[in-house]
Amino acid sequence: MTDKPARIKIAIQKSGRLTEQSLDLLQRCGLKYTRGPDQLIAFGENMPVDVLLVRDDDIPGLVRDDVCDLGIAGLNIVEEKRLHFLEQDPVTPFQIIRSLDFGHCRLAFAYPDGSPLRTVRDLAGKKVATSYPSIVRDYLQRNNIDAGVVEFSGAVEIAPSLGRAEAICDLVSTGSTLLANKLREGETILESRAVILQTPVAVPAEKTEWINRLLQRLEGVMQVRESKYIMMHAPKSALAQIAALLPGSEAPTVLPLDSRDDRVAVHVVCRENVFWETLEALKSAGATSILVVPVEKMLA
Ligand code: PRP
Ligand code: ZN
Repeated sequence: MTDKPARIKIAIQKSGRLTEQSLDLLQRCGLKYTRGPDQLIAFGENMPVDVLLVRDDDIPGLVRDDVCDLGIAGLNIVEEKRLHFLEQDPVTPFQIIRSLDFGHCRLAFAYPDGSPLRTVRDLAGKKVATSYPSIVRDYLQRNNIDAGVVEFSGAVEIAPSLGRAEAICDLVSTGSTLLANKLREGETILESRAVILQTPVAVPAEKTEWINRLLQRLEGVMQVRESKYIMMHAPKSALAQIAALLPGSEAPTVLPLDSRDDRVAVHVVCRENVFWETLEALKSAGATSILVVPVEKMLA
């Protein structure tokens, strides 16, 4: 009798600000999957990994309950649920094992245009509408501000005009939602981005190998997003100067050029994006035929 191989389950947001980039990240880690229309599970074809597409609010709970081994969610939701779970039961509900390079936004207070309220200090005796009641209560408490919290599951920005609250605390990305609702942004209480959650339960041995592989590939994917491979011809005498101009680069490969004693070819991987200013500085240092190419994969 053979055991069915254990499959890793990863929860991601079904439709929203993190969906596309979460799927893209998993694909770049090599995952190929099949997913029928409206299907909530995408089955990995080439790895023992299945992706559950769920509401972002449900991701922390699925990971806490070990229904999913991993989850990708915004720190905003993760922190809200973490505080909420801790109120019920003081055990660590999940571990945050990685911060990702997408989904940047902030949780901030906002006050109606024309309102006398300027800062959180002015909220004493007033009400704040939010979908993040645990984070907001925690913040108010830590800052000794005696304000009420009104929970809204969506459309928080209309709470002041409905007369339900004097201020709001909501996610802000571009700021256009606040602008459209005549709200002025105030204090940020949380800088958010996508993170990876892992179940608090010890991962069975047959899963750890693939989880570790996936996490290692993920490091590589994030690393190459910024990385560039740079090639150029340069005077031997300028090598030190050129190395100093290239941010985050390792020791360059220096190759001889046919029939030239004074000039060499230089190849180098830069772990940061390379801007026009850098190329201009390289040229001033005597480099020619400068080429910058994207890096496809990297395994450190
Ligand atoms: C957030 C927030 C605002 C909007 C702000 O909702 O509630 O509606 O994004 O973004 P902006 O500053 O770019 O206008 P989100 O799309 O995350 O949906 P959800 O909270 O319902 O999951
Ligand atoms: Zn949501």
